Amino acid sequence: MRETRLMLINYMCMILIGVTLFLHLATHAFLGVRNYQDSLTYQSVIGRYQAPATALMLTVLLLALCYHSVFSFRTLLLEWRHGKVWDRAVNWGAVVGATVMVVFGMRTIVAAYFGW
Ligand code: HEM
Repeated sequence: MRETRLMLINYMCMILIGVTLFLHLATHAFLGVRNYQDSLTYQSVIGRYQAPATALMLTVLLLALCYHSVFSFRTLLLEWRHGKVWDRAVNWGAVVGATVMVVFGMRTIVAAYFGW
């Protein structure tokens, strides 16, 4: 995958984290809940996983966080060593690693959304 494309994805992730993390914290403070304690009851949490808008918001937060954290670590690894083989291994390792994290996190969201 091209260097510029991965960086572009990383910048988009940063913006998405800003928006969705604000909303996520809002749903534990004042958005649709009375207070923090109220937001942590089972009914409140399952309600957010089952409402399409908040389930989507959590999905985007999960995607953005996973790709952003792994792609930023990728940048460190590329600065540490150099070489074509190393670059390719790090780039593909980052894409695969982040995707595995997303699939793992999505299990919770999908299972709760469909009530499995
Ligand atoms: C840097 C701050 C935070 C980040 C990056 C973050 C990220 C996330 C993500 C990605 C999920 C979805 C996980 C999944 O099931 O796949 C999630 C869910 C959840 N988080 Fe956070 N979170 C943060 C702060 C907090 C805080 C401060 C609380 C307060 C207790 C909290 C409580 C929860 C709860 C209860 C859920 C289950 C879904 C819901 O009720 O909205 N999180 N968080």
